[in-house]
Amino acid sequence: MKTIAVINQKGGVGKTTTVINLSAQLAKENKRVLVIDLDPQANLTSVMAGGEQEFESSITDVFESAKNNPIKNAIMPAVSKKGVIENLYICPTDIRLSRVIEQSLTKIHRERILLKQLESVQTDYDIVLLDCPPNLSLTSVNAMMAADLFLIPVDGGNFSLSGLADLLDALEEVKETENVNYAVFRNEYAKANKLINNFLQEELDNLEGQVLKTTIRRTEVIGQASVTGETILNYQPGSTVVTDYKNLAKEVLERL
Ligand SMILES: Nc1ncnc2c1ncn2[C@@H]1O[C@H](COP(=O)(O)OP(=O)(O)OP(=O)(O)O)[C@@H](O)[C@H]1O
Ligand SMILES: [Mg+2]
Repeated sequence: MKTIAVINQKGGVGKTTTVINLSAQLAKENKRVLVIDLDPQANLTSVMAGGEQEFESSITDVFESAKNNPIKNAIMPAVSKKGVIENLYICPTDIRLSRVIEQSLTKIHRERILLKQLESVQTDYDIVLLDCPPNLSLTSVNAMMAADLFLIPVDGGNFSLSGLADLLDALEEVKETENVNYAVFRNEYAKANKLINNFLQEELDNLEGQVLKTTIRRTEVIGQASVTGETILNYQPGSTVVTDYKNLAKEVLERL
């Protein structure tokens, strides 16, 4: 089992969208995939948990008391509008997560709660994808401790790379190594946006081997799929952006 954290403390760069569509692609390729919603905004949960918002057990309960609520109790099959998605499972979250995390600040081993829990499902999944919140809170630190690979989406907006150096510093500090396995890729890529593309390319060239060749294009289909509670593969399997996610899956698997 390998764990990938989709992480960037900048908001709205496409973390959740990446987790939804990359996980669906990997599941289609017969990988057993678990996605975990670590953001109390619960965007991933609202798309992949079949419209449910309240759960008998969620990742919030796991952080509250892993002893009473082991992660196994909080995992359910991922469901889209078209029904259960084969090979894909979700551990949902709810709005209480931020409060519960604050209360965990006094616990010993508080950074390793997720890591420990994932050890208990090692043989059940091939790949775990963590949807991180847009901050470097204790939840994100739990994701950092648990992850083998960090997948960092950057968008094409202003300041899209601001904060990247801070993020990489945080990863090095938490992992206690300068050789963190991370990969940056461009989301919402628009070919016509030459000025921004050239600027970003120059900046990204400084990261040498850590930038993926794959870019995910900007397309309306992504927004449409997410409001209808669907993965792209279900919503519009013939869409060109499906090819982008295929390429992303391939490159990510090569780096694991
Ligand atoms: N490739 C894309 N093309 C078009 N729209 C996109 C694309 N990727 C993401 N979006 C849209 O951008 C918005 C933000 O995406 P998303 O929620 O995945 O970002 P996020 O990083 O998870 O945000 P947050 O930091 O709030 O958790 C959403 O409305 C989503 O539909
Ligand atoms: Mg998100």
